[in-house]
Amino acid sequence: MSVKRLSCVILAAGLGTRMKSSISKVLHRLNGIPMLEYIVRVVDTLGAHRTVVVAGRHNIDALKDSLKDRVVEFAIQPTPLGTAHALLSGTRRLSGVDGDILVLNGDTPLITTKTLKSFVTKHRRARNDLSIISFITEQPYGYGRIVRDSRRRPIRIIEEKNATEQERLIKEVNSGVYLLNTRVLPLLRRIKKDSIKAEYYLTDLLELASQKGYRCGVYPLGDEEEFLGINTKEELMKAQRILRVRMVRYWLARDVSFMDENSVYIHPDVRIGSGCLIYPNVHIEGMTTLGKGCVIYPNVRITDSTIGDNVVIKDNTVIESAAIESNVIIGPFARLRPETLLRSQSRIGNFVEIKASEIGKGTKAQHLSYIGDAVVGENVNIGAGTITCNYDGVKKHKTLIEDNVFIGSDTQLVAPVRVGKGAYVGAGSTITEDVPEDALALTRVRQSNIKGWVKKRKKRK
Ligand code: UD1
Ligand code: MG
Repeated sequence: MSVKRLSCVILAAGLGTRMKSSISKVLHRLNGIPMLEYIVRVVDTLGAHRTVVVAGRHNIDALKDSLKDRVVEFAIQPTPLGTAHALLSGTRRLSGVDGDILVLNGDTPLITTKTLKSFVTKHRRARNDLSIISFITEQPYGYGRIVRDSRRRPIRIIEEKNATEQERLIKEVNSGVYLLNTRVLPLLRRIKKDSIKAEYYLTDLLELASQKGYRCGVYPLGDEEEFLGINTKEELMKAQRILRVRMVRYWLARDVSFMDENSVYIHPDVRIGSGCLIYPNVHIEGMTTLGKGCVIYPNVRITDSTIGDNVVIKDNTVIESAAIESNVIIGPFARLRPETLLRSQSRIGNFVEIKASEIGKGTKAQHLSYIGDAVVGENVNIGAGTITCNYDGVKKHKTLIEDNVFIGSDTQLVAPVRVGKGAYVGAGSTITEDVPEDALALTRVRQSNIKGWVKKRKKRK
């Protein structure tokens, strides 16, 4: 459903003092993505034709930077004088627009497209001027309570701080999601400053609009979890747990298996192929794609990487901005840094670090190596303890290792340097010059054995 004539205002100018943080509240991340961005993404799926984010002086630069890849406009609320005042600042940006405006709090990131769509439908079917989503909760603390008359008609919202003991018992609360027709906008100016917090409460609009005879509806929709308003770090953690459960359910339905669903951390933009098995304490972050049939062992973190089919990543491996083709085995204890490309069937073993390098098909670096700024061909064997010395203290240089090369253990390749096809490098060599194809390069001093040396030494004593 594409929603016609829908504009959207997201309120995000509050100081978020209850968060006790120097970072703007709405930019706190949940599974890697700032809470405000979740809301912008959901609004995008509704097809709103304009979206205005209301920011404050204190956070407008950070908010703009965080949403630079999104099509949103910004309005400024110079001082945080409350949610009604924030909406007024936002609608100034929308002057001349008519139709419905969807208003969302910037601190309610778990809301879903499905719920918002059914909300818009309800609002339009009822031909309402003002609609609000409510939810029923056993823990209404902190939320505005929906006060209904004897005929169950909603008459006003009372905030926690202003509520009487009796009103605090009400379990139907305001979600902070509103739809209003531009007709009711003039009423925003008639909202009076609250006596306790000295703020203009958007929630007062319900009472004003219903008194003036506008059609108002308050609908309990969706489930309680969706409307969790995040005001504290504890609520942030709670929202993160909810997202994690959602994510696991999503992947379970797509043939992904977990050893322990409580200890996997999968960011929202990650893609996972069918048949993958993921062990505990695995973090898959950013724009990562996993192919089919991969096995990810415990304590692995993969960020912004593309992994092919049937890749096995063993315990305690870190992979960042790397590309890995199919049938590769990595780890345990491997570190793949940005711009690493592992071609199919390669093997990267324990304590191997690779940076900005291509490792050819079938090539093996199984133990204790550093490979940086290198291009390694096919079926190369890189012995234990091999190091590409890519940095001369000023510049980085390239190492080229061609197909079928054998690099003996404990070799240093001082870049720039090239080892030609099929060449061998003897163990313990320091290679400073190019090695021709099919040659054997050796740089170590010949061994000399002094016969009977130990016995002679003992006699001398
Ligand atoms: C608000 C509602 C409450 C509802 C709850 C749902 C009001 C008065 N109360 O309470 O009924 O149950 O949300 O989560 O609206 N903001 C501004 N400018 C301001 C003040 C706030 O832009 O001057 C923004 C904040 O950044 C935030 C949103 O508005 O994203 C809500 O503000 P917040 O202070 O979190 O309101 P709550 O106390 O949670
Ligand atoms: Mg809030």
